Amino acid sequence: MRALARRRLPRPIFDYIDGGADDEVTLRRNAAAFAQYELVPDVLNDVSRIRTGTTLFGERIAWPLMLAPTGLTRMFHGHAELAVARAAARHDLLYSLSTLGTTRLEALAETFGGPKVFQIYIFKDRGLTTEFVARCKEAGFHGLALTVDTPVAGNRERDRVNGLSLPPRLTLKSMLSFALHPRWSLPALTGSRFDLANVSHKVDALAAGPMSLFDYIGGQFDRAVTWRDVEWLAAEWGGPLAIKGVMTPEDAKRAIGSGATGVMISNHGGRQLDGAPAPIDQIGLVRDAIGEGPDVICDGGVRRGSDVVKALALGATACSIGRPYLYGLAAAGEAGVNRALSLLFEEFERTLILAGVNDITQLGCRHIRRLNELWC
Ligand code: GLV
Repeated sequence: MRALARRRLPRPIFDYIDGGADDEVTLRRNAAAFAQYELVPDVLNDVSRIRTGTTLFGERIAWPLMLAPTGLTRMFHGHAELAVARAAARHDLLYSLSTLGTTRLEALAETFGGPKVFQIYIFKDRGLTTEFVARCKEAGFHGLALTVDTPVAGNRERDRVNGLSLPPRLTLKSMLSFALHPRWSLPALTGSRFDLANVSHKVDALAAGPMSLFDYIGGQFDRAVTWRDVEWLAAEWGGPLAIKGVMTPEDAKRAIGSGATGVMISNHGGRQLDGAPAPIDQIGLVRDAIGEGPDVICDGGVRRGSDVVKALALGATACSIGRPYLYGLAAAGEAGVNRALSLLFEEFERTLILAGVNDITQLGCRHIRRLNELWC
């Protein structure tokens, strides 16, 4: 699907999905780290029926996978977030919409009856954050995921080289790539591909050019946000809240102490702090620190259903995926996302059967070890 996406998209747009920060060490490590773990199977258990259902953000889902929030989704396919949410609904999975998404949260909620989470920021203008909280309550979102690893944008060098900066500084090579992909480029000329639908009402489109919306939102990122603000948001929202971007057991404890109900162990898909550890390597430490109750979501590097089994055996409640469904979306719209989710589920279920585990609640540290080290 990645190969198909690469063919279908102009190179700068593909690179925006595919790339990471600086030397992309963390981007590569996120996925490679899964190979450091071995699955240790039981045999001769009855695996004729496999129970995969679980609860995330207080909602039942078919298996422990969540579709992570991704910005600018309409750039990858014209059907954008609604296509992804429809595929999530078909698989009974949890969908999350990004603040920087290209579909209004109200429109998403109207189309998608399943469990849904809104990814939120604590902006300089706290009024914008409270507006989102109120809109999410009104629209029936079940949870919030607060992103905390973006006090400043990561250094995405592929985007710089391609001229996909703000404002865009397209090189001749990038322009050629857009010209060679008219199926993508012609609809983009209408401008709808770049609409930040959830914040566009904040900027008077007539008074300012289209880029002023990006300037507006870029100027809202606040380096002064602290755990006190998390307490404020948790009280304001009053429902399931995960802190997205937590990497250490200490911060996971602070998250729960500040009123969160879960953490997403995440380095933003290797797009922010290059050199950060892989989420899979932090699960055991985080789970030990915060105990059994809170949701622990491993966000980053999942490319196979067996990766989800490994994360669960280490103590995660679920995993979330970004690129794997975006490649599917870019390749074939809703059908591509659907295919990506089907492949991952088939792999997940087959891995459980081969590991001799008929109920995901039975997965534990005895099923996993880090190369030749026993985990427990
Ligand atoms: C948005 O959050 C991105 O990583 O591009």
